Amino acid sequence: MSQLVWLVTGCSSGLGEQFVHSILARGDEIIATGRNIEKLKHLEQAGASVLQLDITDSQQSIRSVIDQATSIHGKVDFFVNNASYISIGLWEDLEYEDYLAQFDTNVFGTIKVTRAISPHFRQRKAGTLVFIGSLSGWIGHPGVSAYAGSKFALEGVVEALHQETAHLGIKTLLIEPGRFRTKLLSSENMKAARSSIPEYQSFSQNLLDGMAKEDRAQPGDPVKLVEIIIDLVRREGIAEGKEVPFRFPLGADCYDDIKTKCEENLKLLEEWKGIIRSTDY
Ligand SMILES: NC(=O)c1ccc[n+]([C@@H]2O[C@H](COP(=O)([O-])OP(=O)(O)OC[C@H]3O[C@@H](n4cnc5c(N)ncnc54)[C@H](OP(=O)(O)O)[C@@H]3O)[C@@H](O)[C@H]2O)c1
Repeated sequence: MSQLVWLVTGCSSGLGEQFVHSILARGDEIIATGRNIEKLKHLEQAGASVLQLDITDSQQSIRSVIDQATSIHGKVDFFVNNASYISIGLWEDLEYEDYLAQFDTNVFGTIKVTRAISPHFRQRKAGTLVFIGSLSGWIGHPGVSAYAGSKFALEGVVEALHQETAHLGIKTLLIEPGRFRTKLLSSENMKAARSSIPEYQSFSQNLLDGMAKEDRAQPGDPVKLVEIIIDLVRREGIAEGKEVPFRFPLGADCYDDIKTKCEENLKLLEEWKGIIRSTDY
């Protein structure tokens, strides 16, 4: 395959940073973006083009960065919506503003950057949009409502986008990782609200202790994850000659938990089928 151009958001750490190294190793070009350009210097030295992009910026300013990105190599073939953060806290401890901020980055930021690149793909009748969803787009774990809500929302908006644009030659891939060893749960990147409500305090303490223990001890290897995503996008390696599905969970925890949820839903549908189907005129 000839040299292809990738554009990735949130490259200062974790999966984004790994995308840069793995894409360069495959011989492709990458435009790595991040909200703090200083944190991308080492990636520029490694061979990436770098641009400052905070996905919560205005639509207009995001459009101008994306225009700059498409002009670097004259095109972008693959766009990875990766930037995000996790907000932890129980319903009553999270403020309305915490939910707004979580959705502003994970949902509305993702929508804005995708809207900015979409005309480029539509005009070329080519391109792949990759979205990094989550197991939290399937399951709302306690204490993770804001993040899970944002990832559930992403599932819906991206599924609709996929169906609207497939006929234009645009491919969409929604990756749903389980727990992977990145900086997502680090004290630096994770936003956590400790409970001030007596009824929740011990649950909240256990949750935060659990997150601290899990940080950088997650079972998933980000290198393996990113290599598989690149194969899926480039239709090579594990994806060679295969029909790549729109939705792709990755991680042993994802397999187990999604399967359980699907089985529970099928059971519910069968058990209550008569009632569920009884409401038409
Ligand atoms: N690791 C997991 O277990 C896991 C599981 C499921 C899904 N995911 C998803 O994987 C993706 C990558 O996360 P990660 O695990 O690699 O975590 P990470 O190491 O914390 O990386 C997150 C990246 O997003 C960037 N970011 C946050 N807000 C941004 C904004 N407003 N504009 C631009 N960049 C922003 C961060 O930049 P700064 O350095 O500037 O903060 C950082 O580069 C996310 O979508 C996450 O939800 C991760």
